[in-house]
Amino acid sequence: MHTRTTQHGADLADPRFWRLPAPDRAAAFAELRRLPAPLYVGDRAAGRGFHALVRHAHVVEASRTPAVFLSGPGVTTPAPPRWVRTVFGDSMVNLDDPRHAQLRRIVSRAFTPRLLGRVEEDVHRITAALVDDLEQRRSTAAGPPGDFVSAVAAELPFQVICTMMGIPEEPRRLILDLVDRASADTGVARSQRSRLRMPGRGLAALARMQATVAAIGRERRRRPAEDLISALVTADVDGRALSGRELGAFFSLLLVAGVETTRNALAHGLHLLTAHPEQRALLLADLDGRLDGAVDEILRHATPIVQFRRTLAVDHELGGPGGPLLRAGEQVALFFGAANRDEAVFTDPDAFDITRTPNPHLGFGGGGPHYCLGAHLARQEMRALFHALFTRLPGIRSVGEPVPVPSSFDHRVRSLRFTY
Ligand code: HEM
Repeated sequence: MHTRTTQHGADLADPRFWRLPAPDRAAAFAELRRLPAPLYVGDRAAGRGFHALVRHAHVVEASRTPAVFLSGPGVTTPAPPRWVRTVFGDSMVNLDDPRHAQLRRIVSRAFTPRLLGRVEEDVHRITAALVDDLEQRRSTAAGPPGDFVSAVAAELPFQVICTMMGIPEEPRRLILDLVDRASADTGVARSQRSRLRMPGRGLAALARMQATVAAIGRERRRRPAEDLISALVTADVDGRALSGRELGAFFSLLLVAGVETTRNALAHGLHLLTAHPEQRALLLADLDGRLDGAVDEILRHATPIVQFRRTLAVDHELGGPGGPLLRAGEQVALFFGAANRDEAVFTDPDAFDITRTPNPHLGFGGGGPHYCLGAHLARQEMRALFHALFTRLPGIRSVGEPVPVPSSFDHRVRSLRFTY
């Protein structure tokens, strides 16, 4: 039995759905939220497909019940094949306890408030240099850059992570290029022909990136420095440090999880604050007082990560006894963006309102053990950049619509024209 479409025919498993204009997708998700039980997308009898969790309460429940909703079988779609995980090592998003907790304890020491206090100085320094560059380019023959994504939004989180990790200047360009290639296809439908032509494009990029980082790791093990890689390869938590493979996997995760997401949040942010002049005026009237609210509303409204999967460990009644039955072995997709427009939690959910309080959005996940490790850092970066831009270049605005990449995995912006 195929039960994959909404009443109006929207099919979440069809790549064409992800090319629809944002308001049409939002309307389809609103329709799904009104159903008495999550829609099963696919062929349930054959075990192919997933339950679409679109309500705030359901996404929170799945996130906070990790013994029932497993990450181990893979949270991205399609799940990485077993051999890839064996060769490249598992990143923590795809692990359950006890291995997840052990790995997270090791890497969490890089994200303590004390260490993030130090990183904050780097964030401000890198932000100031980016804005200096924008100012200088106004008076050069080449003129100001036209694309906000490549000139600003992608640069900031990438430079911040490289600085935190202690990646020398020299391989940074190569690594940025590899990240783009490694993540280019996640959630993006490709033609059969292009899949055959480039079977291992992303994998080859990943392998090169991890080899580059593993070499730096070996070097730091011999001669530790004041950076995250040194801390990770020499840390002794539960009697062990990260192996070379784990280091490579963690670094790739940080790059993909921390660069793409923040870059998209920054690009959507500039566009939202251009498309809603009354919200922009509110923000500029009290930049220090309203910036936190604006950052959270951008995260809610734009929701950079569209969905993560979980797999049921046992039969489970959603929402408590008598609720819809999800069976052991079935998959659920946690649609964070749909949960962020849940009218049961947010009044007028499609409106962009930087004064929304409270704003319990799920942009960083629904809580629980996999809650975004970089949430604090991402907020720091967004605050620093918008503060610097609106103070030093108050005329900055996007021009036209963002050019999207139609992905079912993240809310990606390929480019965004801007002026200042
Ligand atoms: C606006 C920017 C960001 C957004 C929207 C975002 C969103 C998310 C989401 C939705 C999850 C999954 C949560 C779950 O399954 O419960 C996640 C996990 C994660 N994020 Fe972020 N993230 C952002 C920035 C960052 C940054 C800057 C870093 C690190 C430098 C980072 C590192 C991670 C890691 C390591 C995980 C996996 C945690 C685990 O499995 O235990 N993220 N993020």
